[in-house]
Amino acid sequence: MEFSLRDFAKTDFETLWRIDQQCFAPGISYSQPELAAYIRLLGSFTLVAENPDSRDVLGFLVATATRHSGHIITIDVLPEARCLGVGSRLLSTAEDRLRAAQCSKARLETAVNNHAALRFYKRHSYFVVKTIPRYYADGVDAIVLEKHLFSPPADK
Ligand SMILES: CC(C)(COP(=O)(O)OP(=O)(O)OC[C@H]1O[C@@H](n2cnc3c(N)ncnc32)[C@H](O)[C@@H]1OP(=O)(O)O)[C@@H](O)C(=O)NCCC(=O)NCCS
Repeated sequence: MEFSLRDFAKTDFETLWRIDQQCFAPGISYSQPELAAYIRLLGSFTLVAENPDSRDVLGFLVATATRHSGHIITIDVLPEARCLGVGSRLLSTAEDRLRAAQCSKARLETAVNNHAALRFYKRHSYFVVKTIPRYYADGVDAIVLEKHLFSPPADK
């Protein structure tokens, strides 16, 4: 499947919120005010992946750059668009933006039981920093992961 990336436009909001509802269980997915607040956060950017012909949105990523540190707030790819490289392209483009904003590292949180995400981030050279007990509304712990953005990739 072909896809292209672009920056968020206000008219995307409802679509992105619906994708987030599909990607995460109730209690973990964002309410509309939460998602809107993250998208509007100072220093944040939102990348949208879309089908270049139909303009259907396939996924998105919200990140923020603050004081030399980047934070990947969420990355959401529609179930039917997974395993095609959309998530990888969103993540690597966000990392490029963070590097351009002089962020030396990227940090994110994911649920301990989100095995697909943990595998995905490991493949993208993220390492475990710590666990935050009962971080999510459903009582599940979060794993905090980090990546050094200016180090050479580790040998395979
Ligand atoms: C985690 C997530 C963002 C990954 O997105 P994705 O678009 O499927 O990511 P990619 O396609 O780049 O890579 C996913 C896997 O597909 C494989 N893959 C990529 N392109 C492929 C292709 N053309 N053919 C077959 N497999 C492919 C990759 O090797 C990768 O394997 P992995 O399981 O070892 O990571 C997605 O699963 C998702 O949105 N999940 C729900 C929300 C979530 O959990 N977000 C992360 C926590 S914040």
